[in-house]
Amino acid sequence: MATQADRGVPLSTLCPKFLHTNSTSHTWPFSAIAELIDNAYDPDVSAKQFWIDKTVVQGQECLSFMDNGNGLDHETMHKMLSFGYSDKVAVNGLEPIGIYGNGFKSGSMRLGKDAIVFSKSKSARCVGMLSQTYLEEIDAKQIIVPIVCFEQGEKDKNIL
Ligand SMILES: Nc1ncnc2c1ncn2[C@@H]1O[C@H](COP(=O)(O)OP(=O)(O)O)[C@@H](O)[C@H]1O
Ligand SMILES: [Mg+2]
Repeated sequence: MATQADRGVPLSTLCPKFLHTNSTSHTWPFSAIAELIDNAYDPDVSAKQFWIDKTVVQGQECLSFMDNGNGLDHETMHKMLSFGYSDKVAVNGLEPIGIYGNGFKSGSMRLGKDAIVFSKSKSARCVGMLSQTYLEEIDAKQIIVPIVCFEQGEKDKNIL
């Protein structure tokens, strides 16, 4: 198994099967949906509107959740698709709901096998993917999360 090591000490890794395991904490789909609504409402995102839709993409049923909050950059997208990273703080008295850095993963993987996140924020346009189908197809031994991001830096203000 490919493991990176820090000073020769093995990193703990995450098997792709854990994506399903972790989602079973939601005994019904509505608590999974609540995770996604909570994320949009939380003070770091502070969306004013939230839309839920159902559509069909290439014959597959697909749920979409959209908010008009602050969005993500590359670093926050990577944390969103990772586990346990949550650094939300209260803003103007609004206490965060999310604290464990797990809700998006458990919630989205309870509703479907695959999730694609599209984000537009002040500084970046990003797409990230958490996909059990993809990980099975490539016979992944660990969870990898493809992310494509265009970020606007100070020097390249026109890149977008
Ligand atoms: N709709 C969203 N818009 C922007 N960022 C989001 C959104 N949903 C989740 N995130 C980011 O992804 C992170 C992980 O979300 P989640 O797994 O639900 O954990 P938690 O809410 O406990 O931090 C959040 O801390 C937040 O930074
Ligand atoms: Mg959350």
